[in-house]
Amino acid sequence: MSEDDTDRDPLFRYEQPLFADEQLLKISHLPGPARIVGRDKHMQDVANALNPAVFGQEPTHLFIFGKTGTGKSLTSRSVCQRVVSEAAREGVTVNTAFIDCGEQNTEASVIKTIARTINNPNETGFSVPERGLATGDYYARLWTVLDTCTDVAILILDEIDMLYDDEVLRKLSRAGESRRLSSSNIGIIGLSNKIDFPEYLTERVTSSFPHDELVFPPYDAHQLREILEHRRDAFHDGVLADDVIPLTAALAAREHGDARKAIDILRNAGRLATKAGDDQVTAEHVHAAKEKTEADRFAELIDGAPMQAKLILYALTLLTESRSKDEFPTKEIYRTYQSVAAAVEMQTLSERRVQEILKEQDFLNVIQSEKRGRGRGRGMYATHRLLEDAEVIKRVLQRDSRLAELSA
Ligand SMILES: Nc1ncnc2c1ncn2[C@@H]1O[C@H](COP(=O)(O)OP(=O)(O)OP(=O)(O)O)[C@@H](O)[C@H]1O
Ligand SMILES: [Mg+2]
Repeated sequence: MSEDDTDRDPLFRYEQPLFADEQLLKISHLPGPARIVGRDKHMQDVANALNPAVFGQEPTHLFIFGKTGTGKSLTSRSVCQRVVSEAAREGVTVNTAFIDCGEQNTEASVIKTIARTINNPNETGFSVPERGLATGDYYARLWTVLDTCTDVAILILDEIDMLYDDEVLRKLSRAGESRRLSSSNIGIIGLSNKIDFPEYLTERVTSSFPHDELVFPPYDAHQLREILEHRRDAFHDGVLADDVIPLTAALAAREHGDARKAIDILRNAGRLATKAGDDQVTAEHVHAAKEKTEADRFAELIDGAPMQAKLILYALTLLTESRSKDEFPTKEIYRTYQSVAAAVEMQTLSERRVQEILKEQDFLNVIQSEKRGRGRGRGMYATHRLLEDAEVIKRVLQRDSRLAELSA
């Protein structure tokens, strides 16, 4: 025992019995290239677009679409990291800034975040304040920062569909042309999982700036299995029962091949096993972890959703549970919603408003909506279905006491 060990407080645990390196299963962790599976072609496509940056020139702007967990953030971050080091060997400075447009959704906050990320006060002689400047002043600082601190800035705009308006895209992409920048270049990578809204996005963004588009397909169970195998060393040897990885992959592949979900389930399974004091992770832990993972994801998605949206989702879970199908037209959901609203003594919204809320929830990936035809010349109607288990969703919704009382 080393001297340090004797100083340790026995109240806490210093060795993880099951995890060798839990960090490897954190979603924010950027795995090395050897752990990235099944995205060679996409990595190459992104590299081709960014290639000019290695020589200090303007990259091709890029848009990457794909459902959640298909490796968009991973691939962009990984290729960017490689561009930065490759450029450095050529004597070129490349900087990257990662902007989460879900949080930075206004023009000023995007510009400010980029400027703060790339600014080196020793070189520019100024700092970029967190608040207090007008948008135009943030732009002015940004142009100076870019020309002073870097040769090429690669801006990864994650959840780009959450931006309030595309003015910021227009200005950034034309910075070179409009001579805002004299010695540096900008490359933009926009990421979005709103694959169901390509028309909307394309129209909006095509008019803003020229770019290439890539679509990332979901993974199949085999690929998910490979992805998990490449993180097996997150656990000590022999800790994972043989069927744990194949089962996790199969469960995550069921909805759509979502690597985020697969990794989250595996991590949660390890945590549940640790908490229970078990010395192996087994299929049982995986099943329990799947439920926890889905509930967490759903809770995060609807956190802060208005009560009316919760009532509508609740109506959809009731329908899903009581019928043998899982897809329901707006009208049917509306009728059930009316009785739910009456039961909790809330005002009832119009059918049109309910339709709008369903559309929002589709956009937020809480439910999936599809348009169906009634037959030739008889118009279209929308159907909606839950993206997770009705039972899990119901339990999360019932965290609201008003809905909990309904089933009591
Ligand atoms: N091809 C892959 N090889 C190894 N790990 C992967 C691969 N694709 C995704 N992952 C892992 O899965 C998780 C989710 O991936 P990522 O964050 O890139 O998804 P995304 O497409 O950006 O999803 P979202 O739209 O929800 O942001 C991360 O932990 C990532 O490391
Ligand atoms: Mg992402």
